[in-house]
Amino acid sequence: MELRAARDSDVNNWEEVILIYSSALKQISTKIEILNEEFQHVHRYNPIEHIKARIKTSESIVKKLRKHGYESTIQNMVQYVNDIAGIRVICSFTSDIYQIAEMIRNQRDIKVISIKDYIVNPKTSGYKSYHMLVTVPVYLSDRIVDTKVEIQIRTVAMDFWASLEHKINYKFEGNAPAYIKNELIECAKMVSELDRRMLSLNEEIQMINQQNE
Ligand code: GTP
Ligand code: MG
Repeated sequence: MELRAARDSDVNNWEEVILIYSSALKQISTKIEILNEEFQHVHRYNPIEHIKARIKTSESIVKKLRKHGYESTIQNMVQYVNDIAGIRVICSFTSDIYQIAEMIRNQRDIKVISIKDYIVNPKTSGYKSYHMLVTVPVYLSDRIVDTKVEIQIRTVAMDFWASLEHKINYKFEGNAPAYIKNELIECAKMVSELDRRMLSLNEEIQMINQQNE
């Protein structure tokens, strides 16, 4: 671990900080699982395909701090690194994304810090996803700590695209040749078209089901 501790007491801090982020992540995961189960109960339908939760490694935290010109201190990481606790929610349809986001927003103990809607405003790379930065209170023995969690909500198709694009970027260290970047942009358009058609197909099926009830 490269994140240097200035004093012995900071080592405890590091462990404590990670414990707090892990707790926040568990809480958000559970909340999302509960929403999914309740949704299944009420609507006979699972909006979530799967959930991936992770704590950022100390190496990635240090790398991000360095990239933004900050010293590797625990205070800086808490203040500036928003995705130490990250959760990715993968759904079938674009409409599910907004429904899940709304359900998360409506939880009384969750505070929404910021929203980035890369579905309405995709990145130039073609990246689409719905990002929410929230805080959730973590109850410790002697205090309550509002802890940041980054939630990324996307469809299976968007996730497929993002994984490949991430792998390519990693391989070329962010400088992929133009023809590959262009091909990725083309694929992103196909992803949007696929999501749109699958959604309308699903709506048609639901209509037929309702008529038959
Ligand atoms: P970082 O990109 O994490 O430094 O933070 P930011 O402030 O730019 O936040 P943003 O919401 O743009 O991105 C946060 C996360 O979204 C990233 O860590 C990735 O997981 C994902 N992401 C953002 N842009 C892209 C992209 O172009 N391609 C892929 N594959 N993932 C992306
Ligand atoms: Mg970014």
